[in-house]
Amino acid sequence: MENLTQARHAEELPTRLREICRHYDQDQIFLLCDSNTHRHCLPLLRQGGMEAVLPEEHIICLEAGDKHKSIDSLTFIWQVLSQKGATRHSLLLNLGGGMITDIGGFAASTFKRGMDFVNLPTTLLACVDAAQGGKTGINFNGLKNEIGVFSPAKEIVVCPFFFQSLDRQNLASGYAEMLKHGLLSDQEHWLEVLRLDLSDCCRPEFGSILLRSMQVKTAIVAQDPTEKGLRKSLNLGHTVGHAFESWTHEQSQPVLHGYAVAWGLVCELYLSMRLLGFPKDIFQQTIYQIKDVFGALPFSCKDYPALTEKMHHDKKNAGHNIQFALLSDIGQIHIDQVVEEKLIEESLDFYLDFMGY
Ligand code: GLY
Repeated sequence: MENLTQARHAEELPTRLREICRHYDQDQIFLLCDSNTHRHCLPLLRQGGMEAVLPEEHIICLEAGDKHKSIDSLTFIWQVLSQKGATRHSLLLNLGGGMITDIGGFAASTFKRGMDFVNLPTTLLACVDAAQGGKTGINFNGLKNEIGVFSPAKEIVVCPFFFQSLDRQNLASGYAEMLKHGLLSDQEHWLEVLRLDLSDCCRPEFGSILLRSMQVKTAIVAQDPTEKGLRKSLNLGHTVGHAFESWTHEQSQPVLHGYAVAWGLVCELYLSMRLLGFPKDIFQQTIYQIKDVFGALPFSCKDYPALTEKMHHDKKNAGHNIQFALLSDIGQIHIDQVVEEKLIEESLDFYLDFMGY
């Protein structure tokens, strides 16, 4: 199981990292970042003795942006590790969002057949999703995450103070995955996520709720690390959500991942209610929260064929069916649910009606 630790304040971070790096004191420490985290986050980390542990020439910096999660960037990381004499007993620190934790995890897992890596997620979305669970990889041949391996991080260091520099939209994007974790866990956690105040990520209460949210994913992944069964539940909201996300990219009006997931949750909770009797009051409270935090994606029934076509191409499907992870109640998970296209369109009708289109 991946270890989660928290540095509540920036001053705690170098101390926490020195403790981690002590286990590698016979070898070398490397760090991967992107142009943004190099400027905004690295200075908080390379102080309090960490400057000596992590020399300048061991910092590997990529251009920011998902298009750089590429084979060229991967080669560059391997080259630096190789030229600077990294060994299987070295450590790679990944400082960034999902792009950095994905490619850094993959580079480390394949270098000399695998060296350790520690993730330091700098966005709320990466913290609650990409940085944990061991999915590593790169985009290839125009396809997202086409090449990769399951390989857990040695540790995930949670630093909520990094999120202070995020705008409201990027915070909300991570919040969508927290809402999903609330729905997958229990009434108490769902309610605390519903009431969460995103305006100050440095409050201790925020940190505690964040850790509980991450533990929901950790517990699921521990039971099914390679997504043969239960882990598919983490796709709640994502079958419709991914269709919304790629449709907005095609329309040249891309939305953040979490927004698409939140709107996907509206449709998939509707399906959960219709097919599995998901409780109406919990449904109502959740979808009003989504409308409040995320607003709405405008589309019309003319777009249904394009959206359902995208759902047909979802990686999780078997055969020609569109499959969902749905809920009969909070924490009552039903994976591999085949839903007819007519009912999916009914959920889109509901979405449009609810959002006032
Ligand atoms: N993002 C879903 C998973 O890690 O399985």
